[in-house]
Amino acid sequence: MINSVYHKKVIEITEIFNIYCNQMQEIKFYSGENIPLEQHKVRIVQKLHLVPIERRLEALYEGGFNTFRLSTNDVFLDMLTDSGTNAMSDNQLAAMMRADDAYAGSQSFVRLQKAVEDVLGKKYLLPVHQGRAAENIISIAYVKKGSLVPMNYHFTTAMAHITDKGGQIAELLYDEAYVINSDHPFKGNMNIEKLEEVINYHRPKNIPFIRMEASTNLIGGQPFSIQNLRDVRALCDKYNIRLVLDASLLGENAYLILQREEEFKNSDMKTIIHTMTEMADLCYFSARKLSSSRGGGICTDNMEIFRELEAFIPLYEGFLTYGGMSIREVESMAVGLYETLDETMISQSPAFIKYLVDGLDAKGIPVIKPAGVLGAHVDAMQVCDHIPQSQYPAGSLAAALFLISGVRGMERGSISNQRDEYGNETYSDMELLRLAVPRRVFTLSQIKYVEDRMHWLYDNRHLIGGLKFVYEPPVLRFFMGGLEPVNDWPQKLMTKFKEDFGESL
Ligand code: F0G
Repeated sequence: MINSVYHKKVIEITEIFNIYCNQMQEIKFYSGENIPLEQHKVRIVQKLHLVPIERRLEALYEGGFNTFRLSTNDVFLDMLTDSGTNAMSDNQLAAMMRADDAYAGSQSFVRLQKAVEDVLGKKYLLPVHQGRAAENIISIAYVKKGSLVPMNYHFTTAMAHITDKGGQIAELLYDEAYVINSDHPFKGNMNIEKLEEVINYHRPKNIPFIRMEASTNLIGGQPFSIQNLRDVRALCDKYNIRLVLDASLLGENAYLILQREEEFKNSDMKTIIHTMTEMADLCYFSARKLSSSRGGGICTDNMEIFRELEAFIPLYEGFLTYGGMSIREVESMAVGLYETLDETMISQSPAFIKYLVDGLDAKGIPVIKPAGVLGAHVDAMQVCDHIPQSQYPAGSLAAALFLISGVRGMERGSISNQRDEYGNETYSDMELLRLAVPRRVFTLSQIKYVEDRMHWLYDNRHLIGGLKFVYEPPVLRFFMGGLEPVNDWPQKLMTKFKEDFGESL
């Protein structure tokens, strides 16, 4: 009797503790400043080094002016991506030590299945080595020549896998999505009217699935609303088409719903995530993003879909209880999924991004607004309005920022686009320099450094010049492609930097 009362008390205390620890509480500063205060402490650190600008220039030439090809030895702040670079928690690292290494039937996989069911609300899980492996398998199973996949917006690898299997994509956002300086809370919303038109025009039988990408990556990490997902679901039901949810950035999309969608302002992360995933016939994700680990997965409640995809896992990935992942990663993924529900964790990157976006915006630097997730996105089309799209303004800006700061961002513009079926260049709707802010990796002074150097670069933007390809791989060219500057603008930019900063790195 005493024991059970005691037990109940402990559970109550734990619940109260969880509510306090996992919900974002308002913390005001006496100064009135709006500062995103970290809700974690740093216990393992990695030393950074800022190499001199002369070395950074050499590194650019060695790496074909492509920030993907830089060595981390030359990089000061790595804002290339949040993929596989989010800081892991103590609990994730601890879980890795209890990994049950077995080719088949590992208990680590059982724990992962349970986490997927609890957090994503889906019973059946197919493990894959990363997000694009899921895209490959889903495309192999459902896409054929003549297929059309409507989506809110493409992601590079999703599109490459669909077109690789002979399919095409249709991007159906509202016009507001392309407005840089906007206050629209859900720029990732699917254009419902256009979607129905496209379904009728192409006929439902040619549409294997509709793809909704949470926190639409390539338009600046912009979320869609639950109402919009409901409208998409209604059309899926009306025309009997599968709904596929790319859940790689689902946690952040759910967090922004909590912040921005009236109906859910008193809700919680778990309810919002379940409301979203239960509308999808299948979800897939890059665990490199979703759970701050590595790996990926496809999950569904539909046994028929599970069976249609199952056979491809051992063929392309690995056995069904590890799918090409290390078992240690499987463990850290399970813990990372639960941590996605923790608002103090999931809000950290969006809060730092907002801080950076507000800082850049205050200096007049054109940046995607409202601040989204994953990173701050600088509008290279405006910053480098003197560089034609044929000379890749976003790639040029990424190279220039690295040169003058050691900050490595990523081009998200025409270089990241693929050529059309006739080999013609297709120019991107937006030319963005993405400055990723992985979860709990950077300090606020580092964010301020980025803001400062970006400010200097903006004031000297007329010195930035264009780029041209010297080596262009046929698929996903942005990863390993090589470029060179159209003239000696990098040297001139370096000279100006040295004039202004003297001996400073
Ligand atoms: N879907 C989305 C929305 C993504 O952002 C990514 C990866 C993938 C799928 C593919 O997953 O890398 O595990 O194969 N995005 C990374 C980025 C690469 O930098 O934005 P993956």
